[in-house]
Amino acid sequence: MGKGFEGRENRKPNFSNKSMRGGRGGKDRRGARGIGARGKAKTVIEPHERFPGIFISNTAKESLLLTKNYAVGQTVYGEKHIQVEDNTSKNEDGTPLKIEYRVWNAFRSKLGAAIINGIKRIYMEPGSKVLYLGAASGTTISHVSDIVGETGVVYGIEISERSGRDLTNMAKQRPNLIPIIEDGRKPWRYRMMVSMVDCIFADVAQPDQARIIAINAHYFLKNGGGFVFSIKANCIDSTASAAAVFDNQIQELRKVGFKVKEKVTLEPYERDHAVVTGTYRAPPKKKAENEDEK
Ligand SMILES: C[S@@+](CC[C@H](N)C(=O)[O-])C[C@H]1O[C@@H](n2cnc3c(N)ncnc32)[C@H](O)[C@@H]1O
Repeated sequence: MGKGFEGRENRKPNFSNKSMRGGRGGKDRRGARGIGARGKAKTVIEPHERFPGIFISNTAKESLLLTKNYAVGQTVYGEKHIQVEDNTSKNEDGTPLKIEYRVWNAFRSKLGAAIINGIKRIYMEPGSKVLYLGAASGTTISHVSDIVGETGVVYGIEISERSGRDLTNMAKQRPNLIPIIEDGRKPWRYRMMVSMVDCIFADVAQPDQARIIAINAHYFLKNGGGFVFSIKANCIDSTASAAAVFDNQIQELRKVGFKVKEKVTLEPYERDHAVVTGTYRAPPKKKAENEDEK
């Protein structure tokens, strides 16, 4: 796997897979309504053919993954913005409404990389409720906040107080993002703040991450809800091959009620990382646990 992996700064994003062309021909056109925005000459922004709430900009030079900025004018991690006029809606004075998109940098976000690498489902869309484990300073979760939009909500769990401060500041501009500075191993501590969710996204990079996502699913994930699980192989076992670690993590997920449907590796954006997705079926209810007492 290591051979042929080039420095991440030197690689142009790979938009060669068919799904990233952003063409209008896709069967799922839900995201296309009300769009058709055109910005400066030659910039065309179109809904992603698989994922409502995600967009593609195509120019002669490059293709970019975008989300619509929920906190207009704000950047989170130095990402670029693109403003376009929405010809379908006007301001009160009759001028075309401007829409602002944020460029989603796949070198900074495993979810972004998985989308570009062709993942089929992410189990989140406008209006979804998402529990995000390992929110860090807010890079990827800010795009999730853009995707779920004003009718959705994303709960961001982060154990580090330092990252949590950045996350909390960022969330001030995003009423749909609830930052929770807590340990994802102890969901009973935040259960009063979190509702049942449609999707759990987990990127905690911890050896016991399968257990962390399982216990959170047990508390908060709807029956039949989806999960998106990021695996960094050397956080689990630096002596085994990445492929063996991915297989082992998938087995662990299966044991605790997850139905794993897909696995996508993240080269060239991240080496020895994979994103695994699927659905959850809660096991039959046992006596309530109070893990704090264990
Ligand atoms: C790889 S980083 C996440 C990056 C982030 N998902 C992004 O793309 O912007 C992993 C994060 O998980 C956090 N973390 C580790 N263990 C955790 C736990 N038990 N509960 C909550 N967060 C945890 C770390 O502090 C770190 O910020």
